[in-house]
Amino acid sequence: MIVGGKHYRTVWMESDQVFMIDQNKLPFVFEINRLITYEETCQAIENMTVRGAGAIGAAAGFAMAQAFMQGIDPITARQRIRATRPTARDLFFAVEEVFTAGLNSVESACSAAQRIADKNADAALAIGQAGEKLIADGAHILTHCNAGWLGFVDYGSALSPVYQAHRNGKKIHVYADETRPRSQGARLTAWELLNEGIPHTILPDNAGAYMMSKGMIDLIIVGADRIAANGDAANKIGTLEKAIVAAHYGIPFYVAAPFSTFDKDTIHGNDIEIEYRSADEVHYQMGPDAEGKLNKIRVTNPGSDALNPAFDVTPAELITGIITEKGILKPDQLNFFA
Ligand code: MRU
Repeated sequence: MIVGGKHYRTVWMESDQVFMIDQNKLPFVFEINRLITYEETCQAIENMTVRGAGAIGAAAGFAMAQAFMQGIDPITARQRIRATRPTARDLFFAVEEVFTAGLNSVESACSAAQRIADKNADAALAIGQAGEKLIADGAHILTHCNAGWLGFVDYGSALSPVYQAHRNGKKIHVYADETRPRSQGARLTAWELLNEGIPHTILPDNAGAYMMSKGMIDLIIVGADRIAANGDAANKIGTLEKAIVAAHYGIPFYVAAPFSTFDKDTIHGNDIEIEYRSADEVHYQMGPDAEGKLNKIRVTNPGSDALNPAFDVTPAELITGIITEKGILKPDQLNFFA
């Protein structure tokens, strides 16, 4: 994506240092963080400075390469990186690839990490080309969370077809679910779409059923964090509700993801580990005050508890198709893994 006239990737590595756009500060501040040690990169994954399945996959691969370059015991580093976030398959895929390469040489670890990042961007571009044909001129598209450029190394999954459609001159409108509690839709997806000049509107998370009931949504495209062998797909919490409502109203519901998100070892969606994050993410919101300084404010009743499951699983039967870098698959076609 171009920001201020310059092309950026979401995360990249130079020598033994990792650089990433600080997604916790967007859309209010655009800042690049430099992570000097592999432990700093782990913390950036945990605290969601970098987030989104593809982007944390690349970051995890870079962290593993950093560990090799910095003389950290690779088995300890591999465990530490694997413990940062549990749900996104790309993270585990990248750690294993780079770990295995690093057993040959440090150089092999670095090239493997770079290859994973490059393949992630290439796959996202191809997903855009495959998915673009699903989008009719004039379409109103709903998306949930952020599966755009910031959720990958570049381009994104769910938003990549949207960007292609817009570049091909189709007049489209995107509805971005707010995606509480961390508001990836209201903050990140909206920021990306504005940068791309794509007409869009932020929707409260609970407005989707109303919009669908009124015929205001033609198509839904979301990303995925892990896709089980039976085609069930884990994605940001709230996705399942949209899929159920879409099925009720006969609205096509597509999941976009590269093959690195497919997990042949997880047979059923129920076996996917769902991350539970801190209740504080529900209790507090962050934004700029009148002087532009970022502040946290409490938005829930002090003293009340909150629950924060970060993902849910949409059953394969509710998914119209999965947009991959090799074309659009029916969820029941995934048994090629067996
Ligand atoms: O918790 P996050 O922000 O890392 O959540 C992951 C996601 O961004 C989504 O679930 C997304 O829709 C698919 S991954 C690009």
